[in-house]
Amino acid sequence: MSSKYRVVVVGMGKRGMHHAAAFQANPRFEVVGVCDKDEARLAAAAAKTGAAIQGTDAREVANAARADVFCFCTMPHLRAGMIRIGIESGARLIAMEKPVALNTAEGFEVRDLLAGSGVKCVVSHQHRYGEHYQKTKEIITSGALGRVHTVYGTATGWMLHMLSHLVDYMRWFNGESPAEWVMAQAAGRGKLADAHSSPDYVGGFIQFANGVRGVVECGAGAPDVPEVDYWWRKCRLGAQGTDGFAEVLTGGGWRAVTKTGSWSGPGCMNYDLDMPPYIQQMADWLDDDAKVHPCNFASAYAGFEIMMAFCRSIAKGGQIALPLQQTADEMQILRDTLPNRPVLLSMAANAKEYPPAQDAKGS
Ligand SMILES: NC(=O)c1ccc[n+]([C@@H]2O[C@H](COP(=O)([O-])OP(=O)(O)OC[C@H]3O[C@@H](n4cnc5c(N)ncnc54)[C@H](O)[C@@H]3O)[C@@H](O)[C@H]2O)c1
Repeated sequence: MSSKYRVVVVGMGKRGMHHAAAFQANPRFEVVGVCDKDEARLAAAAAKTGAAIQGTDAREVANAARADVFCFCTMPHLRAGMIRIGIESGARLIAMEKPVALNTAEGFEVRDLLAGSGVKCVVSHQHRYGEHYQKTKEIITSGALGRVHTVYGTATGWMLHMLSHLVDYMRWFNGESPAEWVMAQAAGRGKLADAHSSPDYVGGFIQFANGVRGVVECGAGAPDVPEVDYWWRKCRLGAQGTDGFAEVLTGGGWRAVTKTGSWSGPGCMNYDLDMPPYIQQMADWLDDDAKVHPCNFASAYAGFEIMMAFCRSIAKGGQIALPLQQTADEMQILRDTLPNRPVLLSMAANAKEYPPAQDAKGS
């Protein structure tokens, strides 16, 4: 196939520019339209990409371009409306940022819009393309760990930034087995007001249908990863089995111990390295329906439901069965129920992002 897929990118902030640059660098794509409601960002993006169609209104740009790919990289409160614009503009594939949505009211809507349209969709959980993530996955899949009984992940960043990533890669490590139920706890209201609205600290368990246990912690109380300096990359994810473990540090390589020895190797999260294969696999999927993108929406949605079920467990207590049957505004439920007590930190470096709340009471 030699023709180029035409692309529109909406939201020319950090991630929009990453996407636009990676599409432009791939010979299978051509960025024909860019959109941002901020005129200065739009002008900068138009100059950088050379896109012929530009504007501050996503629908106008999408309808003018009638592109094959509608990519949007807006903050998490803008999801269903953008999906609708992408579908109605005639796109064959929508590329969106994580998280899928802020709540299941919108998440169900996004899911149903896509299902009814037949439009392909991918969600940017692109850390998995790092060589250290790939190596960890390879070791887990090889059988060298024996019977895998646990997959795990921790990150010091907060839920709507990082839990989406953690759960996605844990599910990948576990062969995408469906989740049957979850149970979770949370502390700290500070980040509820953030654009990525979240409790300051979340911990939870996942029961996967294949019997594997998922254990995940995200936020202010999650353990340090002292091998990694860069705060946002203090993430540790892996799998344990009867014969050993393999794990990846987002900012610091991989390591494994099995019956036959111990190994480690390099790797660090890097947008410049992670975006090209993520983008290439969109072309592969557009070329061939059988080459389903690993970051396909159905997979990301399964992780999103786990995250939303965590929120319900935090608010209501106890276990939450999956799949979820009814919609809710999970962030509002958390605002209504999370105790007003200060979060306790796992390390002093977290105080920068999780300062003590002025009105929080000790217990
Ligand atoms: N996958 C990853 O590794 C990763 C990393 C960082 C951020 N993200 C996600 O990417 C998304 C965007 O984050 P960001 O850091 O790029 O944000 P950003 O604020 O840098 O960019 C968002 C842009 O969208 C524009 N925008 C907002 N509303 C718009 C509208 N209605 N029409 C057109 N443009 C509009 C804003 O003006 C802004 O330029 C978030 O969902 C975030 O969680 C993902």
